[in-house]
Amino acid sequence: MAKTYRHLVIPDTHFGPRNKNEIKIVEAICFYIEETKPDRIIHIGDIGDFESFCTLGDPGDADDIEMSTYGDDFEHVFGAVYNIGQAAKMVGATLDITLGNHEHRVARKIHRYPRLKKTLNLVSDCGLDDWRITPYGRSRTIDGIMYLHCPMSKMGRPMTSHAGVKRFTIGAKADAVVYGHTHAWSAPFFEIEAGHTLKPAINCGCLFEGHGAYMDRASVCYWRGLTTLTVTKGSPPDIETISMKRLLKEYG
Ligand SMILES: [Fe+2]
Ligand SMILES: [Fe+2]
Repeated sequence: MAKTYRHLVIPDTHFGPRNKNEIKIVEAICFYIEETKPDRIIHIGDIGDFESFCTLGDPGDADDIEMSTYGDDFEHVFGAVYNIGQAAKMVGATLDITLGNHEHRVARKIHRYPRLKKTLNLVSDCGLDDWRITPYGRSRTIDGIMYLHCPMSKMGRPMTSHAGVKRFTIGAKADAVVYGHTHAWSAPFFEIEAGHTLKPAINCGCLFEGHGAYMDRASVCYWRGLTTLTVTKGSPPDIETISMKRLLKEYG
């Protein structure tokens, strides 16, 4: 019989000073991991908000990195990553992250100011040393499921339209495509061969409360919670969700 794996998908957490309920959310994720014992834990990116990296100011400007609060940003992510890592160790789950555009802010800043290479390191500053890292814009296929922060266009831009996601999913060499970024939840199944195989593109919502001012316009569309996939290679996964409300009530 084909082996079955349980994947826990943690969507955009945007950990950081603005995440109002962060400690409770992290505790609940950890209890949920201990209780449900997933084989794989996959964070699909935007693990931190990294608001202090939002701008690309010149050195000496008010928004220059050395004048910002980037230490706070890293500290929040580090604490959350440490606790989730401890829970994963307890149950023997593997840890993966597909980096999001918010992590990419750090890389962009370093690219612009190479001297920052000496002081900033996304992986060690966030405590991600034990996690397998997939760079922003790339995908990782685990047990036949393709994970990435967001399907990307050939121009390297996030592609979230139904038609774009459908095209991307049909072309993917995987039983399903799993992504975040939009903070909405949906799972359309696309027909791969007429009347035969169906393949889902699972957009997994988000998991944070409070948000930066720059997010205001999209906030009403968010779905908050965790998604679990029961995966058997060669067929679409079984999909379960637990809303943040239930997560905090039962595991917080
Ligand atoms: Fe994103
Ligand atoms: Fe996000």
